[in-house]
Amino acid sequence: MRLAAFAFPLVFFFVPSALAQDSSRAIKRYREMVAEGSPAELFEVEGEALWKKPQGPNKVSLEKCDLGGGPGVLKGAYARLPRYFKDADRVMDLETRLLHCMVTLQGRKRAEAAARVFGSADRPSEMESLSAYIAAQSRGMEMAPGLSHPKEKEAYAMGRALYFYRAGAWDFSCMSCHGEEGKRIRMQDLPVLYKPEHARAVVSTWPAYRVSTSQFITLQWRMNNCYQQMRMPEPDFGSDTTVALIVFLTATGKGEPYRGPGNKR
Ligand code: HEC
Repeated sequence: MRLAAFAFPLVFFFVPSALAQDSSRAIKRYREMVAEGSPAELFEVEGEALWKKPQGPNKVSLEKCDLGGGPGVLKGAYARLPRYFKDADRVMDLETRLLHCMVTLQGRKRAEAAARVFGSADRPSEMESLSAYIAAQSRGMEMAPGLSHPKEKEAYAMGRALYFYRAGAWDFSCMSCHGEEGKRIRMQDLPVLYKPEHARAVVSTWPAYRVSTSQFITLQWRMNNCYQQMRMPEPDFGSDTTVALIVFLTATGKGEPYRGPGNKR
């Protein structure tokens, strides 16, 4: 478990409603201003270079990586994830699939490729830049994760169960924070993610640039960070747990045109 989980005391701000409305409007305006000139583009450029860069013992790029639409097909690939991949016999989200390609195509060791998946403001991770580049190529396309294969159905059911499952020292579930409309932490509205009207706006804007820390963040990072907030052990990167949650969230928000990479607080 990460030390950071204990380093920051959890502060809940349940703001009175009039004040809350004002700040909601201010935050909305702030998001619009930031979106006009998003730094996410810089990560897209870096991601493109990494996609094309020969790496690993095999000295090949990721350009033949199959993200679901065939080797190297990027257009619309992100909007159709997560989905089931026959070659790996499991459901994968973008990051899990990229890790798979780093291992199978580039011949890298999983531990090496996954050693630094969450970067910092001055040094984004390879995974973060790649996800910016790939996700950007689904702009305008409807979010349509795989939901027909039995393993996709299984992942959806598991993600849904996990969303409501209370555990850990504080007996928290996702519902503890994302269960009721109007709940806030640090002035941020907490979306009720099992409701399509909330999930749609969320899943269509990840991965995203995080203004408060100048970092580019991915959904795997988000799952990890929310588990830390729940005082639960840190999940493994690309584990069935995080993938299942991402399947559930994406399925709940499906049909929304993708308009990321977005901007977050
Ligand atoms: C202890 C409170 C807490 C719990 C429990 C929690 N989260 Fe979060 N979650 C947050 C906070 C705080 C944010 C960030 C809000 C911000 O800064 O915009 C957030 C943001 C998110 C977002 C991004 C929302 C957006 O607007 O893009 C997703 C997705 C998410 N959480 C999923 C989950 C899932 C899935 C679980 C359960 C595994 C979970 N959270 C459990 C506090 C929590």
